[in-house]
Amino acid sequence: MQEVAVDTPGGQYPIRIGRGRLARLAEAVPADVTRIALVTNPTVAALYGDTAERALRESGREVLRIELPDGEHHKDWQTLNTLFDALLEHRFDRKCLLVALGGGVIGDMVGFAAAVYMRGVRFLQVPTTLLAQVDSSVGGKTAVNHPLGKNMIGAFHQPVAVEIDTDVLATLPAREVSAGLAEVIKYGMILDAEFFAWCEAQAADLRALAPAAITHAIARSCELKAQVVGRDERESGERALLNFGHTFGHAIESGLGYGVWLHGEAVGCGMIQAAELSSRVAGLPREDVTRIRALVEAIGCPVQAPDLGAERWLDLMQVDKKAEGGKVRFVLLSAIGASHTAPAAEAAVREALAVTTAAPAHA
Ligand code: NAD
Ligand code: GLY
Repeated sequence: MQEVAVDTPGGQYPIRIGRGRLARLAEAVPADVTRIALVTNPTVAALYGDTAERALRESGREVLRIELPDGEHHKDWQTLNTLFDALLEHRFDRKCLLVALGGGVIGDMVGFAAAVYMRGVRFLQVPTTLLAQVDSSVGGKTAVNHPLGKNMIGAFHQPVAVEIDTDVLATLPAREVSAGLAEVIKYGMILDAEFFAWCEAQAADLRALAPAAITHAIARSCELKAQVVGRDERESGERALLNFGHTFGHAIESGLGYGVWLHGEAVGCGMIQAAELSSRVAGLPREDVTRIRALVEAIGCPVQAPDLGAERWLDLMQVDKKAEGGKVRFVLLSAIGASHTAPAAEAAVREALAVTTAAPAHA
């Protein structure tokens, strides 16, 4: 078992990474918890619901299982309200614990519910997708989508712990593995050139979920993310770097409709688009753009963005949480491992779009 510490003003907690963590969830239940709601979806429940529920009951608490519908298109107010209905109907009090068992959709929704239910209760992250294990379960960003923008309604709320069981990745569809790897390689691109080179060398093993490679990738990703959120929990500066590729990626997701491309796929492709922009406005060498494109391809993510039309692209990118006074700030690279945020001239953005878009080829 490996442990990474997260230390933010909003909470200090461990990320525990290892095989068989699911069966040991009772260890993560704080002493004064009254009742537990295990929140998951039917897909994950069928695979891991019983193991998780049994493990949580070992803490001596009553456990209510709540299943939300599966899918990004259910990450909304309506679904969130069904969770509040269940908690209120079962009279969950302020000392309850919500447990998020699932991917980033479940984690983000349960985290947001925990942030606002009775003005805030505790929650435990048990991420079961690679993307959730390396990114969304760490750092306390929680949200639901709005038809006009992704993750637009949310809160910062840190979990009491993150329990990462690497065994659960065995049932993950290959496309989801690739989507998770997009967030892994992102850390190399923005923060750690050595890790990027390691990912290049290990791409095949990572896609095959070779235990040593995938465990190192998860631990290093969590370490890098923990360092950033430890310095900037509320994204007043540095944390925005973690959104590399996301301005383009979020436009793909909302432009095509949530769920058509996976979030990680959109981010993977968006990082190529952000690299193209970086080569135009931030001095990223062309050979680095080529390496970035090759690695996105090697991990199995799409490399051509959908042609939404330049005007619609620009419109969609305006709805970005990094926008200030109507001006979008992009995360840019000056080299692999060296990132910053800055606005970019529209002409350069148009050029980056022109060289990276094509008729929708991937659904
Ligand atoms: P997801 O939660 O939709 O999970 C993907 C699919 O895999 C779902 O169908 C799910 O039921 C299934 N699944 C989960 N675990 C499984 C397993 N072990 N075996 C088989 N199937 C399994 O998608 P995701 O990629 O995990 O998360 C994407 C979401 O995360 C997006 O909404 C995105 O905005 C959010 N996100 C949030 C943050 C953050 O900091 N909070 C960061 C990155 C992404
Ligand atoms: N995934 C970006 C962040 O957590 O800030």
